[in-house]
Amino acid sequence: MTRGLFVTGTDTEVGKTLVAAALVHAYRRTGITAAGMKPIAAGCQAIDGKWRNEDVDAMLDASSPGIVVDDINVHLYREPIAPHIAAARSGTQIDIPSIVARHARLAGKVDAVVVEGAGGFLVPLNEHDTFADLAIALGLPVVLTVGMRLGCINHALLTQETVVARGLPFAGWVANRVTPQMDAYDENLATLHALLRAPCLGVIPHQPGIDPRTVSLRLPA
Ligand SMILES: Nc1ncnc2c1ncn2[C@@H]1O[C@H](COP(=O)(O)OP(=O)(O)OP(=O)(O)O)[C@@H](O)[C@H]1O
Ligand SMILES: [Mg+2]
Repeated sequence: MTRGLFVTGTDTEVGKTLVAAALVHAYRRTGITAAGMKPIAAGCQAIDGKWRNEDVDAMLDASSPGIVVDDINVHLYREPIAPHIAAARSGTQIDIPSIVARHARLAGKVDAVVVEGAGGFLVPLNEHDTFADLAIALGLPVVLTVGMRLGCINHALLTQETVVARGLPFAGWVANRVTPQMDAYDENLATLHALLRAPCLGVIPHQPGIDPRTVSLRLPA
């Protein structure tokens, strides 16, 4: 059976892509094949005449050989805005079944799939659904990336409450030092250890240009 995780975060720009890519590498280091999936991506740059998204490229880069963009991305929008708004502006709709189908196809190609959301856990996909509904539809345990900055404890606890309330396994969390300077960093980290009811899979130091290959994370049991 294909293994998998859903990587969410306390916010946008907290290191979800870094954590998701590092988890893909962690799976691959155990000797199995793995892929990162970024089903919904907003924000593109034109490179060699093609619209590219950094997160999709990062997931592709981390994935086992033979995986192509079409395997890992379903909805791609040019503007870096909320996905349901980007979809509405382009006259389309994001629907969960199309992502579940693409995920199933990818799961047929590799042993483990790590899915990255966008923004936080309750970011809407359309009028009815959020990323939480997508994680439920995919049946994936959740890994929370905590961007270590002021306010992160509240965001982490709100996310934990939602994950648990929706009946999803809370597989673990990762502390990511997104800024070099955070007052009372150690106390904040200790508070997260005390209040989050899932294992800490790793603590990532601040390191500009950090490469996911060098980030060592524990895989959830
Ligand atoms: N530990 C770190 N040290 C230094 N820079 C970091 C670290 N973690 C992440 N960054 C940088 O912070 C930025 C945001 O990281 P990343 O893209 O992984 O966040 P994200 O949560 O996936 O964002 P989004 O919501 O846009 O998907 C990137 O430029 C990344 O290189
Ligand atoms: Mg990202």
